[in-house]
Amino acid sequence: MKPGPFYIRNLRVEPPLILAPMAGLTHTAFRQLVAECGGCGLFYTEMLSARSLPFETPHCSPWLQTTERERPLMYQLLVSEPEELPAAIEKVESCGADGIDLNMGCATALIVKRGGGVALMKDPRRAEAISKTARRHTNLPLTAKIRLGWRLDWTTLRDFCLMLQASGIDAVTVHPRLKGDRLNRPARWTYITKIKELLDIPVIGNGDVDSPETAFQMVEQTKCDAVMIGRASVRQPWLFRQIATALFTGFQHQPEPEPPMIYHRFASLLRITTHPERQLRLLKEFTFYFARNYAFGHTLWSLVHNADSLDNAVALAEDFFQQQRPKPSPLIS
Ligand SMILES: Cc1cc2nc3c(=O)[nH]c(=O)nc-3n(C[C@H](O)[C@H](O)[C@H](O)COP(=O)(O)O)c2cc1C
Repeated sequence: MKPGPFYIRNLRVEPPLILAPMAGLTHTAFRQLVAECGGCGLFYTEMLSARSLPFETPHCSPWLQTTERERPLMYQLLVSEPEELPAAIEKVESCGADGIDLNMGCATALIVKRGGGVALMKDPRRAEAISKTARRHTNLPLTAKIRLGWRLDWTTLRDFCLMLQASGIDAVTVHPRLKGDRLNRPARWTYITKIKELLDIPVIGNGDVDSPETAFQMVEQTKCDAVMIGRASVRQPWLFRQIATALFTGFQHQPEPEPPMIYHRFASLLRITTHPERQLRLLKEFTFYFARNYAFGHTLWSLVHNADSLDNAVALAEDFFQQQRPKPSPLIS
């Protein structure tokens, strides 16, 4: 991996390791946990509806809540029409955003039906209008997160990427799966390579990185400027630190934290940051991925899933931790 930082417009990202936007997961409590573990050079919010954002109150909105520790922070906008952008951009700028990302990759049926996420890759004109409108309304670093599209077609994908660059997008994140691909299908890294060769702006690679080895392989193979990590960072919020220590200078080795300690810390952060009504649901979402640290993770997951309060869930998890040792490094799916 390149030893130095990389830049998105004027934003310095160091190390070039990025927390992926994940709905229900990359809220302030989780981002703070990742920040405490260290090694993450750039944070993303979960996707935020551009239509609803203008009506949110920053200090109490679960979508906009943040702290100085989760910096730099990109706000990811879910947008269907250019008209939704000016007010949404004004809102995130007033919240102190370090940059803005346009979601062009979400494949959730309801979102696609409403014309957002990967639906934009089927309608390049609308995607272009959205990108240009965003560019006109902000000087902040502006990124777009894409998939490979609806079917494998390099010419269409190439034209889409060139359109983003020409519209003023400062960096593109490539999650190389098609609209219909499930997350357990291997990501097609060769397309990150092709897009990196094509574009002058930085390309962020994403998909299936779950260790220092896979991070290194992605960069070696694709020459991407930075690596974005999703699911594996929920299983191991200390993964960025591990990768940074292995691949970059300036990061001192730290022993891997004990997973139960991380689980308790996450629960405490939820208590501090999150409305009681949402705490248990967010702990469940986190546990779904975190449980993969254990051979009998499905037991942990079902204990927490059936709990009726945060305290109850944490107590049940603690009983589990007393009886089970984490496994070394399971593969993600
Ligand atoms: C639970 C979940 C929620 C996600 N939410 C978002 C989202 O809000 N915006 C987005 O662009 N991608 C979202 N993604 C996709 C991830 O950002 C990422 O592209 C994908 O998980 C592949 O990376 P990984 O193999 O490192 O997990 C989500 C993925 C998961 C598993």
